[in-house]
Amino acid sequence: MKIVIVGPGAMGCLFAAFLSRQRSREHEVWLLDKDASRAAKLGRQGIDVEGIAGSWHADVRSTADPRDIPAADLVVVCVKSYDTKNAIACIKPLITEDTAVLTLQNGIGNIEIIGEAIGPDQVIGGVTSLGATWLEVGRIRFAGKGETIIGRIDGKTSVQMRMIRELFNKAGLETRISQDIKGFLWSKLVVNTGINALTAVTRLPNGSLLEYEGSRRILRESVTEAVKVAKRKRIKLLYDDPLAKVESVCEATATNVSSMLQDVLRRKRTEIDFINGVIVRFGQELGISVPANAMLVSLVKVIESSYEKAVGAHQ
Ligand code: PAF
Repeated sequence: MKIVIVGPGAMGCLFAAFLSRQRSREHEVWLLDKDASRAAKLGRQGIDVEGIAGSWHADVRSTADPRDIPAADLVVVCVKSYDTKNAIACIKPLITEDTAVLTLQNGIGNIEIIGEAIGPDQVIGGVTSLGATWLEVGRIRFAGKGETIIGRIDGKTSVQMRMIRELFNKAGLETRISQDIKGFLWSKLVVNTGINALTAVTRLPNGSLLEYEGSRRILRESVTEAVKVAKRKRIKLLYDDPLAKVESVCEATATNVSSMLQDVLRRKRTEIDFINGVIVRFGQELGISVPANAMLVSLVKVIESSYEKAVGAHQ
């Protein structure tokens, strides 16, 4: 089987490292990176994983040129959500009518973007509770165990989904199929809505958001708005008390630097449009007032547009 992982961030490398441990004659795992020198480095050095499952090394095939890669049976999209369109345009030649394309990205909107480019039937949504931190090129920390849930937006189960479930479980990636992937995606969105932007603005680790009256209040307000939007859209969230869930995620990942804060610290663009931005867009469409999310979106956009001007930026 030919597996192509697009995007060598922490999560892309984690999946590549797990799946490469399984490498056999039928499995060929490729990592596609838009950066040619980084791709060459990854191909030379492979991936070193450290953290909760001990340390191990995985050799991977890596390239920036999709023409190096044969037609894929499975494409796993792990790029930042704002790069989805470009990534899919780049890998289109690798996709045949039998290729399954699984998105494991944060936020809402990626399934639709990929579906528009290749047709909705081949797209599989995924939500993973695995945690990984990018340390440097080819070095990641495996920071959190958890399930990966996959499913099609229409709720149907395809042969390809069963194939992915088997492949991932064999590789040690606990995976199951859901008929309601939308519920999982939105439940994760609600968690990310409460934590990510607020940590990016305050520069606090997840757990510290609960230590201050002000951040606790904004977290509560942004989550309450997200839940209102989800309810109006008739999305079935996984938790009876979503706010308690978000607070418990803060506690369980207390020392984590959220993915959005990691982006800000590396002065990169963030996924704000696909997280709190989704709540603002749907809020406007549905006539639901979402001031906390609107404020968080504005603040994060200012931060990501002003890295060069920020006080201390050149120290
Ligand atoms: O994006 C993230 O960082 C994670 O989804 C979460 C759950 C907020 C933990 O850091």
